[in-house]
Parts: sequence; C-alpha cells; structure tokens
Amino acid sequence: MYVYIYDEMGISLVTTNSIKINSEIEGIHLLGHFSQMEAQFLIQSLLALLGVAFLLNATTLASQLEVHFYRNSCQQAEFLVKKIMKERVSQDPSLPAGLLRLHFHDCFVRGCDASVLLDSKGENVAEKEAPPNLTLRGFEVIDEIKAELEKSCKGVVSCADILALATRDGVALSGGSAYALPTGRRDGLVSKISDVHLPAPSFSVSDAINAFQSINMTLQELTTLLGAHALGFCHCGFFVERLYNFKGTGQPDPNIDPSFLQTLRKKCPPPGPVAFNFSTDPTVFMTPSSGTPFRLDSSFFKGVIEEQAILQLDQELGFTDLTRKIAADYVNRPHVFRRKFAKAMIKLGSVGVLRGREGEIRENCRRVNTGNALN
Ligand code: HEM
Repeated sequence: MYVYIYDEMGISLVTTNSIKINSEIEGIHLLGHFSQMEAQFLIQSLLALLGVAFLLNATTLASQLEVHFYRNSCQQAEFLVKKIMKERVSQDPSLPAGLLRLHFHDCFVRGCDASVLLDSKGENVAEKEAPPNLTLRGFEVIDEIKAELEKSCKGVVSCADILALATRDGVALSGGSAYALPTGRRDGLVSKISDVHLPAPSFSVSDAINAFQSINMTLQELTTLLGAHALGFCHCGFFVERLYNFKGTGQPDPNIDPSFLQTLRKKCPPPGPVAFNFSTDPTVFMTPSSGTPFRLDSSFFKGVIEEQAILQLDQELGFTDLTRKIAADYVNRPHVFRRKFAKAMIKLGSVGVLRGREGEIRENCRRVNTGNALN
C-alpha cells in the first residue's frame, strides 16, 4: 500500500498501510491500504496543507506587482497610456520631466499610491498643497489617460499605475530605456500635507542618503535617479541663495563655475524684500549648459563634474568619492546610466505600493471614491 504525492518536483512515495484508497485531489494521487480513520485523517491533513499552500500562493501573487498586470482585465491599458503620452509629448517635450518629478513625489510620501494626485477636501489639506509640491506638473495628462481608460475598462486601472506607466513612457520618449514596468498598484485613500517630508535641495549628500534609506534606496540609486535632473525646469528660488548669499556669507557658493554663475545671475536676480513666490519666479533649465533640456542623457553628471549643477545637493555629488566616481562613469558610459536608471525607476515605483484588496481603484484620480472617503 502506497501513497504518492505529486508535486512540481515529481512523485514522492509517502507511506504504506492496509486498506485501499484511490482518490485524486488536485494533483495529489493516493493509493494504498489504510484504516478508514487513518485515511480520512491523512486526506484531511493533505487538504489542509494544500489549502494553506494555495492561500499562501494566492496571497503572494496578490501581493506582488506584475509586468502586464492588466493583460486580461484591460488589454489596451498600456497601449493607451503610450498613445496619449506620444501625442502630448509631441506638443510639450517638457512633460516627461513634470511626470518624473510627480511620480517621485508620489512614491516618497506614503508610497506610490497616487496620494499626490488627490485634491484637498473639506478640512483636509492634501499633499499637493505642500510647498515643494506647488510646482508639480502633469496632473492633466493623468486625468486625460484616466478618463480614456474609464471609458473602456471602468474601475480597473489604478491612478498609481497610470502615473507610473506614463512616467515610464515619458522616460522612453526622452531617450531613456523603455523598461518593463511591474503594475498592479492600488490607489490610496489618504493625502495629508503633514505627511510631506521630501528631501530639500539644500540637503547634504549624507542628509539625502538618510532620506532615501527611509524608502529603502541606496546612495548609488539616489545618484542614478538624480540623473533625471538632466530634464526640465527649476525655479530660481530653489537655488538663488547659492548665487548671492551662500549659507549667509554674503558671497556666492565657491563651488559654482564662475562663468556659469554669471549666466545664472542674469536669469535669477537677487531676491527682493518680497518672499520667493513659486508662481511668478523665473525658471532655468535643470541642466542649463547641456543644450538638451528634454533629453534624458548623462548631461546632468557632466554638469556635476564641471561645477555647473544648479542645486546645492546636486553639486555636492561631485565632492564625495563614490558619487563622483558614479558621475564620471555615467558620463563615459551613457548606456550604463540608461540601464541603471531604468532599474532604479522600477525600484522607486515599487516603494510602499498598495496591492490586492488594499486601497481602491479610483474613478477620478483627484478624489477618493464615494463610500471610501475618510473625510
Ligand atoms: C534628493 C532628492 C531630490 C531633490 C532635493 C530634488 C529637488 C528638485 C527641485 C528643487 C526641482 C525644481 C522644481 C521646480 O522648480 O519646479 C526639481 C526638479 C526636478 N526633479 Fe528633482 N529632486 C530630487 C530627486 C529627484 C528624483 C529622484 C527625480 C526623478 C526620479 C527627480 C526629478 C526631477 C525632474 C525631472 C525635475 C524637473 C521638473 C520640471 O521640469 O517640472 N528629482 N527637483
């Protein structure tokens, strides 16, 4: 009398006894001679084991993001995101920069759950009202994609995935890699201004390391992601102190290339008595000397090495051994930067995601669904 258990490793012989059982339970085949009670007990135990294994497997599946998560539930999802992104980027090549920053600010606060997209409501002041978020861009294209997807796949594709996918396509449309992005994120129900503790441009490298450790990212990944500063705009208020009164010295930051300093001073006059205002503040390109402000190349790292980075933190990457080495490597081997950037973006996009039955799939990216609203 034998008991055979079929598993993915093959067939294992388990035991022998006296009465004959012949039953098949989801891949398990039993043959042999048992007492009735022993047999029942054995079958029940195996069923219980199977149940646990099945549940564990289901939970693992539900708890992991997956490439092409929408292949059955909304086949056209990724195609549609890409189509709209292509159209919008051809009209405004700076859009990918806006989305990259939006996605980063989403993931850094409460994980990549689209909490940054929620509007304030009633007493609740949302993340998007926090000072570093006041210059975020790209909300409209996310709304447009969402509205389009709701027409064909109602309640299926999350705003968090739309933001991550649109950012991915923006990266590719700007010359970066078109990476395979795991999806299956769900949308958060909470967005509070008091949760926003983003790293500041005046951070030292070690402050930034600590900030990124809180989202489980390394200095290498932080340095790589800062390569996104090859793209887009910066308001003068974020770095004007470096041009005129660095750390209260009344002098400019000694680590700015002198001719670059003059160029920046022309664009950004000394701050007057009125406090810095994001909406009227002039802007410069993030990497002004590259001549390719909408191309995700290694130009940011070249700027770091040539003391032409505009943010204090960015320039500091040139002054620690490891980050300077990384910057030099990316300048010499741009394909390595592209590959590592894609990898770091996938990791950033998995920070604190909601999955399975957590959160919800919002109908409108700016509001929590009626019934789930916490305020
Ligand atoms: C320590 C971390 C970081 C700091 C302190 C920082 C700071 C800033 C600041 C001050 C600006 C100018 C915003 C404006 O004037 O509107 C900016 C722009 C930008 N940042 Fe960062 N950033 C950080 C990390 C990142 C990361 C990780 C990404 C992408 C993965 C990113 C992507 C961008 C992009 C693309 C822009 C241009 C935005 C636009 O054109 O609207 N940044 N960043």
